[in-house]
Amino acid sequence: MCGIVGYVGPRQALEVVVDGLRRLEYRGYDSAGIAVVNQGKIESRKKAGKLANLEDELSSEPMSMSSTGIGHTRWATHGAPNDVNAHPHLSEDGSIAVIHNGIIENFATLRDELRSQGVELLSQTDTEIVAHLLSAQMKVSENLPDALRQVAQRLTGAFTLVVVHADSPDLVVAARRNSPLVVGRGDGENFLASDVAAFISFTRNAIELGQDQVVVLTPQDVLVTDFFGNHVDVLEYEVTWDAAAAEKGGFDLFMLKEIAEQPKAVADTLLGRIDDSGTVTLDGLELEPEYLASIDKIVIVACGTAYHSGMIAKYAIEHWTRIACEVELASEFRYRDPILRPSTLVIAISQSGETMDTLMAMRYAREQGAKVLAICNSNGSTIPRESDAVIYTHAGPEIAVASTKAFLTQIVACYLFAMFMAQSRGGVDKAAAREIALELATMAHKIDLVLDTVVGVREIAKELVDANSVLFLGRSVGFPVALEGALKLKELAYMHAEGFAAGELKHGPIALIEDGLPVFVVVPPPTDELHDKIVSNIQEVRARGAKTIVLAEEGDSSIDEFADHIIRLPKCPALLQPLVATVPLQVFSCEMATLKGFDVDQPRNLAKSVTVE
Ligand code: AGP
Repeated sequence: MCGIVGYVGPRQALEVVVDGLRRLEYRGYDSAGIAVVNQGKIESRKKAGKLANLEDELSSEPMSMSSTGIGHTRWATHGAPNDVNAHPHLSEDGSIAVIHNGIIENFATLRDELRSQGVELLSQTDTEIVAHLLSAQMKVSENLPDALRQVAQRLTGAFTLVVVHADSPDLVVAARRNSPLVVGRGDGENFLASDVAAFISFTRNAIELGQDQVVVLTPQDVLVTDFFGNHVDVLEYEVTWDAAAAEKGGFDLFMLKEIAEQPKAVADTLLGRIDDSGTVTLDGLELEPEYLASIDKIVIVACGTAYHSGMIAKYAIEHWTRIACEVELASEFRYRDPILRPSTLVIAISQSGETMDTLMAMRYAREQGAKVLAICNSNGSTIPRESDAVIYTHAGPEIAVASTKAFLTQIVACYLFAMFMAQSRGGVDKAAAREIALELATMAHKIDLVLDTVVGVREIAKELVDANSVLFLGRSVGFPVALEGALKLKELAYMHAEGFAAGELKHGPIALIEDGLPVFVVVPPPTDELHDKIVSNIQEVRARGAKTIVLAEEGDSSIDEFADHIIRLPKCPALLQPLVATVPLQVFSCEMATLKGFDVDQPRNLAKSVTVE
């Protein structure tokens, strides 16, 4: 959840590190800090608030020139987001600087041990203890890498630790467990970061580090060992994103760019995976046909928006494969003593591939003997690396904290897998498969059509900007869409919003309806068995004074007399409607946040990847 950057090489470390932190600020922005090694000293600066605060200080009080540096943007876990708790943290003699992403779960015990030795801790963070442990370890270890290996062995929890030492110019050392870290391999220079976006303007050659590994960076070499000093072979890969793709591409906001990229993201996720006959090919899917035939239950684990895509996927999976499918909040899953067998397939859906709740849920599932399939948007991230198989979504970098294109592509990837499963088990008739394939092939264009109508959605946002609360109703796959619409409004406009299964209204929530209360309703196609029931739901809330904003298929005039606003959707099968119905809700929330003057790409209290439980 924090942004981490390390550099060693001929460039000015300060410039490289600040540039990298700027590209990673979406990962956390409670504070920022930098440390460089210069003439036998560590020079460090850190400031609460956004990176700009630190940059302002650096422009008025420049740091020394150096070829070795580390930097950090923080999403606070232990200790308030203030200057003292900002990273880097230094040893008492100032010779060691440490930055950290994650949570050290045994830090209280270690803190007490340090205090008993007379060490004075300056901050409330778990990170600071590592600087002091390293300082003590350096008295007995041969060098900094060995000292870090010894200290890392003592830590439990999740950590990416990046360290520099005053006496070791041209050396950056790091250790990782349960937290992302990637090496950027340059020519006579090397980089470390929590995300490739930090260094792809310098190099696209990357090395993903694995669990319990230590990496030693000099300008010429990258050496990787385990925590016990044993050499580890690593795989180098080329990052296909370029720096521009991770920039805003002319839009004011990353979120607007990513909403607009949805047609392409859906098309790219479908590309080469389904043909006109509806035959699905999932290259490299490491699940044997015999295993697929043995599956008798599917459990989807995910968080937030990814959880909502799993709720939608459930309808398609059960409809096409006739396999029971449960959808679980990853943070709840492993604490309910779930029933898992070798014949259970767990699907972990995650845009970042680093969400700790989801990672721990899938680890639990594998310990219980289930296989795990990852649906992920981040190549080489921890969740796919630890899964038995992966289907990558091809949405490209999603920088805005609010997930949009990843959501639509997660739905598409899950649908492809459901069709693949059904076909591998002989369960889909050819006509139906062809029909679905043809419909899927039109969805990118249909999303484009919806994007052409967003001006009207922006007008609705202007009308509702002072609302205190907004409700969202849907049925079947429209229910998770309603939940997603509510989540977007909460996380972007900081408003109370709630999504309901429309059929539940009469069991309590209808008491919330009062004069002028905005209620969005997602209406399925007129041919759907639930269509008339949800039209009745619209009448129920309208009769009690609600202001109804109805999302309905073009040509569906049955809702006209009950709608204060109508948002028209292109015709498509009910199961595919989430791919078009979600888009206006994304735009609505983005516009509400913009009208309120909030930071849409980096909403308060949030981070793009929640790498702590
Ligand atoms: C989505 O708008 C939210 N920012 C959040 O709910 C997110 O979907 C959730 O944290 C899961 O993240 P992941 O997909 O990277 O695992």
